Amino acid sequence: MGSEVKPLRSAQWFEGEALRNFSHRARARQLGLNAEEHIGKPVIAILNTWSGINPCHMHLRERAEQVSRGVWQAGGVPMEFPVSTLSETYQKPTPMMYRNMLAMETEEILRSYPVDGAVLMGGCDKSTPALLMGAASADLPAIFVPAGPMLRGNWRNQKLASGTDMWRFWDDKRAGVIGETEWNEIESGLARSPGTCMTMGTASTMTSAAEALGLTLPGASSIPAVDSAHHRMAAASGMRIVEMVREDLTMSRILSAEAYEDAVTTVLAIGGSTNSLIHLVAMAGRSQLPLSLDDFDRLARTTPVLASVQPAGKYLMEDFYYAGGLRGLFSRLRESLHLDRVTVTGRTFGEELEGAAVFDDDVIRPLDNPVAPEGGLAVLRGNLAPDGAVIKYVAADPALWKHSGPAVVFHGYKDLQQRINSADLEITRDSVIVLAGGGPKGGPGMPEYGMLPIPDKLLKQGVRDMVRVSDARMSGTSYGACVLHVAPEAHVGGPLALVRDGDMVTLDVEARVLSVEVSDDELAKRRSEWTPPESKFERGYGALYYEHITQANEGCDFEFLSRPGTNPEPNAL
Ligand code: FES
Ligand code: MG
Repeated sequence: MGSEVKPLRSAQWFEGEALRNFSHRARARQLGLNAEEHIGKPVIAILNTWSGINPCHMHLRERAEQVSRGVWQAGGVPMEFPVSTLSETYQKPTPMMYRNMLAMETEEILRSYPVDGAVLMGGCDKSTPALLMGAASADLPAIFVPAGPMLRGNWRNQKLASGTDMWRFWDDKRAGVIGETEWNEIESGLARSPGTCMTMGTASTMTSAAEALGLTLPGASSIPAVDSAHHRMAAASGMRIVEMVREDLTMSRILSAEAYEDAVTTVLAIGGSTNSLIHLVAMAGRSQLPLSLDDFDRLARTTPVLASVQPAGKYLMEDFYYAGGLRGLFSRLRESLHLDRVTVTGRTFGEELEGAAVFDDDVIRPLDNPVAPEGGLAVLRGNLAPDGAVIKYVAADPALWKHSGPAVVFHGYKDLQQRINSADLEITRDSVIVLAGGGPKGGPGMPEYGMLPIPDKLLKQGVRDMVRVSDARMSGTSYGACVLHVAPEAHVGGPLALVRDGDMVTLDVEARVLSVEVSDDELAKRRSEWTPPESKFERGYGALYYEHITQANEGCDFEFLSRPGTNPEPNAL
């Protein structure tokens, strides 16, 4: 910050004698604004991913009013922009396909309108990385308002976890342990308030990562969506963004290599979703900072899992909040974090941890009694995944951490659905289930197929986990010995496309290996016989997606969005 006050970006629209300026002012009158209410004041875009179809964001329409209240009180001018919603539940084939679309929309809205700063409102899985990727590219001052987790689910006085318990009871239902009555009751108890999934799924993983990056007010990501504290956080974020504009506290001043490293450390310490690897690599790419799967693996070896939140642990986000929340967890990780970097508050990360404490050692564990001594993720390589694959092994049966077994291969999800429960499928608990064709291009959109179903006949024998390998993703609320994100994917000719039934596949978490016992010569022979599948898209967004999407280890951004270069300011065009 120099002593010179930087002119507002929005002044190019509203101030000056040109006819264009006159017209912009006349249209502000049409909006019902008096000159003294807005001229010379920061225009704050509130990017709201509220939609009638998105239950995780159903409170954000109202919450935007609280953000606006804060903006007005601090002397700014709030302008709400409804932007695309990414509903993990409803959007098909998967909202992952539309993450980059929301990122583009975010960047272009901030660029093309008279905006001085932005409040980004989201939380359901991909909406967080999308908003942050776009805002990082636009590089205005911006603050993130996480939607907040929903309340704990409830069924017959049992706590229910979104996603996680749905899969668990589905297996119980298929195994005949529960009946229709129970199943119907669970349907009404699983998700009983606005907010994002209340496990440590992708939503809470990514909002926690946003907080670790320094992009939210301290403690914001842990507040339940319906708590009054969430209203106050929204208003305070609105107040703060106006100051951030005055301080010219842009995204690039906050998003340093150290900030990204701390986000990775945080994701590991909370036992977070595997999806975060893809999103954080993509986000760092927008900051033109190198972050690779190897950084995750390096930090995973030294970062303990401290948050006992499902699926890696026992509790839910509401419990995590009461136990001290993410700030409580940070207070235990001080030694591993970079405390002197700036956050949206204008103060350092370390300064913001003053007074942070843990109130329940079973939910947020001390360093000498972690949920797991190492971060729950491992990056695997080998002749089956030359560019890497990932496993969240804390959520897997430890007996499977080192395992070799014959492959049972499926090509595409339809094939899997059609054959997995057929009586004559040759499969035992030692087999390795392989799904090829679930990647960024092949899925398409890399759907969350990765928790491949265990055949009914094995479930009935009591089998609850098996080694499963795919180029797909897995929901952050899922669990099991599922090797994911195999790169390159089968659709572009990765070795996964060449695996055949009976090939011996080896997973070795400790050695970080994923391999198939097939000679190089044989793989080369199979490759020469392999025909690349065709794109499913002849036109539309799908065609754009298909032509520009990068692989999982590269973050699945569009190549033209992640590369460096200028995107000129509109008024300069
Ligand atoms: Fe929205 Fe899980 S479905 S966060
Ligand atoms: Mg999810």
